[in-house]
Amino acid sequence: MQAVDKDEAAKSWEAEWSLLPHGEASQIDGITLEKQTCSLWEKIWAFQARPDDLLIASYPKAGTTWTQEIVDLIQNDGDVEKSRRSPIQQRQPFLECTRATYNGVDQADAMPSPRTLKTHLPVQLVPPSFWEKNCKVIYVARNAKDNMVSYYHFQRMNKRLPDPGSWDEYFEVFLAGKVIWGSWFEHVKNWWRKKDSHPILYIFYEDMLKDPKREIRKVIEFLGKNLKEEVLDKIVYHTSFDVMKNNPMTNYTHDKHLNYKLSPFMRKGIMGDWKNQFTEAQNKKFNEDYEKHMADTSLTFCMEP
Ligand code: A3P
Repeated sequence: MQAVDKDEAAKSWEAEWSLLPHGEASQIDGITLEKQTCSLWEKIWAFQARPDDLLIASYPKAGTTWTQEIVDLIQNDGDVEKSRRSPIQQRQPFLECTRATYNGVDQADAMPSPRTLKTHLPVQLVPPSFWEKNCKVIYVARNAKDNMVSYYHFQRMNKRLPDPGSWDEYFEVFLAGKVIWGSWFEHVKNWWRKKDSHPILYIFYEDMLKDPKREIRKVIEFLGKNLKEEVLDKIVYHTSFDVMKNNPMTNYTHDKHLNYKLSPFMRKGIMGDWKNQFTEAQNKKFNEDYEKHMADTSLTFCMEP
């Protein structure tokens, strides 16, 4: 009887999800953003950062949540129970996130210092107070092909974002830089440039997969912390893919806009998944575009597992 009820509940939830409208897009200074974010833009731009704020920045689907959980555990000296006090989006406000009953700016304003904030904004749209107050920033970047595939599956399951259409359609929109938060190329390149004049720790998803301990150590040093080796090991374990996938405080379950039947938030967590998605022709076109876009930067990515 209980199993039947469960099935019924799942069915009615799915029916509800399918009726939710897709999010809409608009633009600020030529960058495509969620329409709701644009509607609150003046307030976001006027956001008052504090000198001890830490900003975690990334292109969407580059490993933001992973970095956020690592940072939270470091700040709590590896105390897992403390880091499970609430879902990650409550512990670290998402600056430009704007909903009918909630927004990241109000959430951050109400929070005591020191605060850790999250953003996907391209560097030129980050509120100027972050630069004026010289806030520390951690930027995490992921190779474009895997980033694109992850973003496509996320848009399929997330009604807050526009409908991604078919993979072939999405491929073109992504390469044209018309997805929400703009061009991957400009995002990673401009943040890379910014680190020459600002305290930014620039890390890579692929390095985190390859040697999480080394990368977490970099974050610890950047935050000016001093943690024992056993605490570091604990953080490595608790931020591993399987542990985070099963942690309700990091896996974004309980969000009615996300349909886990289509794709989980913690989907695969690997490098090279693009090989399962790109056609040969798409790979060729992508490589040609990539060379052109990345010709003017020293930034390089690892795409081959
Ligand atoms: P996939 O869709 O390729 O699986 P973000 O947090 O920026 O939205 O990024 C989500 C991506 O990071 C997803 O990629 C997710 O699985 C991956 N991810 C999250 N936590 C991870 C972890 N601990 N280890 C490896 N990958 C992780």
